[in-house]
Amino acid sequence: MTPLRFGIVGCGGIAGLHARTFRDGLEKDGTAVLVAGAETDPERRAAFGEKWGIPMHDSLESLLARDDIDAVAITTPSGLHSTQAIQVVKSGRHALSEKPLDTNAERAAAAVLAAKEAGVVLAGIFQQRFNADVQKVRRAVQAGAFGELIYVHCETPWYRAQSYYDSGEWRGTWDLDGGVLTNQGVHMVDRLLWLAGDWDEVLHSVCSLGKFRDIEAETLGVATVRLKNGAIATITGTTLAYDGMAQRVLICGTDGSAAFDGETLVKFKTREPFEETSASSEVEEVGVENKAADPLALSSNQHEANYRDFIAAIGEGREPLTKPEEGVRVVALLNAIYAKAGVGPYA
Ligand SMILES: NC(=O)c1ccc[n+]([C@@H]2O[C@H](COP(=O)([O-])OP(=O)(O)OC[C@H]3O[C@@H](n4cnc5c(N)ncnc54)[C@H](O)[C@@H]3O)[C@@H](O)[C@H]2O)c1
Repeated sequence: MTPLRFGIVGCGGIAGLHARTFRDGLEKDGTAVLVAGAETDPERRAAFGEKWGIPMHDSLESLLARDDIDAVAITTPSGLHSTQAIQVVKSGRHALSEKPLDTNAERAAAAVLAAKEAGVVLAGIFQQRFNADVQKVRRAVQAGAFGELIYVHCETPWYRAQSYYDSGEWRGTWDLDGGVLTNQGVHMVDRLLWLAGDWDEVLHSVCSLGKFRDIEAETLGVATVRLKNGAIATITGTTLAYDGMAQRVLICGTDGSAAFDGETLVKFKTREPFEETSASSEVEEVGVENKAADPLALSSNQHEANYRDFIAAIGEGREPLTKPEEGVRVVALLNAIYAKAGVGPYA
């Protein structure tokens, strides 16, 4: 197999983990290679190029002018993801966007459309979907083993100091980041919808903007949402919970329940035994993360699994596990939560 040749745009914090994913995983067995990067900040550009031994560009346009790139990983501030994904797919390259797909659902939907029109693959990084237990709960829900879903919940009781927000001008701004629900909580919102199904209506929402932190968006958000299947969801998050606790998800049905404490499935009970075929239960466990107080306390294993699925989807002409349409519905829900609370650009 010829390695898929990647560029990466936005070479800050998370980009280092992406580069490590190439060096320690994807490049070792010839699946993919990191060819070049693009970064607007001169110091970061120089440091990243030196550390990973790759040529660097000062813009995405310049990166895309190369003739040795098949795909681009997008690791810039969140509100740039879809605009840059559109540039990438229009150049005929595949795009893998860090979470969230954007801060704005209209921009995210436009990126999905552009990828379809260009006939290339656009996928999100939602690495926690590659947790074997998350996949098991999804199969159980889909098989009806939990009966009718009644109540589902996700929470992000994390801690981010002002210094975290001060580390990048984009952090905590409406357009480029959003607050705790869109940035830190997005993996949980994605898990909730991936397990329990699409959302229908935001019933109630409260968001405290800039409480105890000098940012535009929310440091506390609490929403109640009705899903299309009638279940009621609660979605909560704060970055003020000193000094951070595990994210949690609850799935409660008439015939079964499941609970995650962080990445660990701490409860899984169905009225009838949920039996899987050996093929469906043979999902490899790909590591655990704990970012409650440290944004970059990530293992690269799950990112590697996300990359491998993206690359396989391109090779096999199939949809990726982290389908971009599902990224859009997450952002649409987050935008609707802000609208219901009467805050931000969506009010
Ligand atoms: N999957 C995860 O769990 C995870 C974890 C952390 C961050 N993220 C996501 O990764 C993204 C980046 O986060 P980060 O913490 O690395 O931020 P960061 O600020 O450390 O890095 C972003 C980089 O992009 C650069 N940049 C900005 N505009 C650019 C442009 N137009 N062209 C090229 N470079 C540009 C900035 O100079 C900066 O170096 C965010 O969307 C965040 O949500 C995901």
